[in-house]
Amino acid sequence: MRADGPVAWVTGTLVLWAGIAGLAQAAPDPAVLAAGCAGCHPVSAKPLTPVTRLVGKPAAEIAEAMLAYRSGARTGTIMIRIAKGMSDADIQSVARYLSAVSAK
Ligand code: HEC
Repeated sequence: MRADGPVAWVTGTLVLWAGIAGLAQAAPDPAVLAAGCAGCHPVSAKPLTPVTRLVGKPAAEIAEAMLAYRSGARTGTIMIRIAKGMSDADIQSVARYLSAVSAK
């Protein structure tokens, strides 16, 4: 069977996801974690999306919200799922990273 069309696409996508998962498990690089947040939480000082800007917020505030989403104490549409996929170390490191970034 030739590896093109949908089969190649699915295989490629699975390989990509395996790579991302491996990356996330190897060492929670906060810059990599934070890049995943930036798609929805704008880094710009003039946000183009209505989602809360996280950069420059106190790290404790970001981490507290993430832990509350993960435990179910706080409700949300998407953050519960995202938080459930993150370890305590991931949450603390991405919170510190985002807090230290200044909006451009
Ligand atoms: C798919 C879009 C999306 C991604 C990706 C995303 N968020 Fe969110 N975030 C939201 C939305 C939407 C809300 C509002 C709550 C809800 O509906 O879940 C939110 C709310 C939050 C809040 C609470 C903000 C406040 O002041 O109330 C925090 C903290 C947060 N997100 C952190 C993160 C972090 C850290 C990441 C990356 C690891 C991330 N988010 C990735 C969409 C996203």
